[in-house]
Amino acid sequence: AAANTLALALGYALGAIPFGLLITQRAGTADLRSIGSGNIGATNVLRTGRKELAAATLLCDMLKGTLAVIAARWLFGEDAAIAAGLGAFLGHIFPIWLKFKGGKGVATYIGLLLGLIWPVALVFCAVWLAVAIITRYSSLAALIASAVTPPLLLWQQQMPLAALFAILSAILWFKHRANIRRLLDGSEGRIGAKG
Ligand code: G3P
Repeated sequence: AAANTLALALGYALGAIPFGLLITQRAGTADLRSIGSGNIGATNVLRTGRKELAAATLLCDMLKGTLAVIAARWLFGEDAAIAAGLGAFLGHIFPIWLKFKGGKGVATYIGLLLGLIWPVALVFCAVWLAVAIITRYSSLAALIASAVTPPLLLWQQQMPLAALFAILSAILWFKHRANIRRLLDGSEGRIGAKG
């Protein structure tokens, strides 16, 4: 239990690093929280017009999750890797530095899959890309890919991981509630459109 608590804390510390904000502030773009959706994630960084910053945000928000999992596994074993993954996701969504107002969790979710069960990360990305290419909605792509993941893990009889990602998907959907409203009334911004 001590190892899992430490792993959860380690994950939280890594997950709470708001890379989107750090990267855009360093580059001197407009404040993410005053443009587009106001979110600190890669999709909203793209709305600054700086693709390379969006790519860097996606990569860093992903890899902080992967790193948390790998470090905890190496230090304490597989149960702790799952605890660290939960911590990293909670850190990204509820960072203490931003008064617990963090991101929506898509990149970190992928990074956790990569560290915990990488083939499913590939499936997630394939589903995300297919929906994004067809609809040009980043949010819808994430909602569908995250809805597919827990049943897929269940089908593979990955019980602890199915439970973990069911919780993460529920949080991810909750954080996308404004996007869901916009998707339903047709006002959601599309990738490549001026947000
Ligand atoms: O990465 C979050 C994405 O699914 C939606 O982002 O900025 O359009 O709310 P955004």
